[in-house]
Amino acid sequence: MKVLAGFVLVMLLQGTAHAGEVLPAGRAEAAKPLIAEQCIKCHVVPGFPTDRVQPAVKAPSFMEIADNPARYPDAQIAAFLRQPHYPMKGFVLSKKDIANIIAFIRSLRERH
Ligand code: HEC
Repeated sequence: MKVLAGFVLVMLLQGTAHAGEVLPAGRAEAAKPLIAEQCIKCHVVPGFPTDRVQPAVKAPSFMEIADNPARYPDAQIAAFLRQPHYPMKGFVLSKKDIANIIAFIRSLRERH
């Protein structure tokens, strides 16, 4: 059992080390249910009703993220989303979710 736990830990650590790893192709459309359920609690997202349960939390709006690719490059977003960010807790995004979210943010970039 201990050996297994150690193995899982190593896998997790490796997972975080490979931030630049290739993600599956994402679909912006597929990210929407997750965004509606989770992200709009703290982030303002174009096309979604504001549902901020924690207005005190200073989360950048998705438009701000989309408008600043230099500050928020895709690889950084992917690495960042590998871990639930404070104070967002209780759920972990799959690689597919992350790819879909990045596709969604890209679709916002393409609006201009
Ligand atoms: C409980 C509040 C909360 C929720 C829910 C939440 N976020 Fe965040 N998010 C934040 C805060 C606060 C920051 C800025 C502080 C930080 O960088 O940790 C942030 C920052 C970010 C950033 C910028 C990362 C960077 O490189 O600086 C991205 C991208 C992001 N969130 C995406 C998401 C996505 C996608 C979801 C839904 C799956 C989500 N967030 C849900 C609070 C939240």
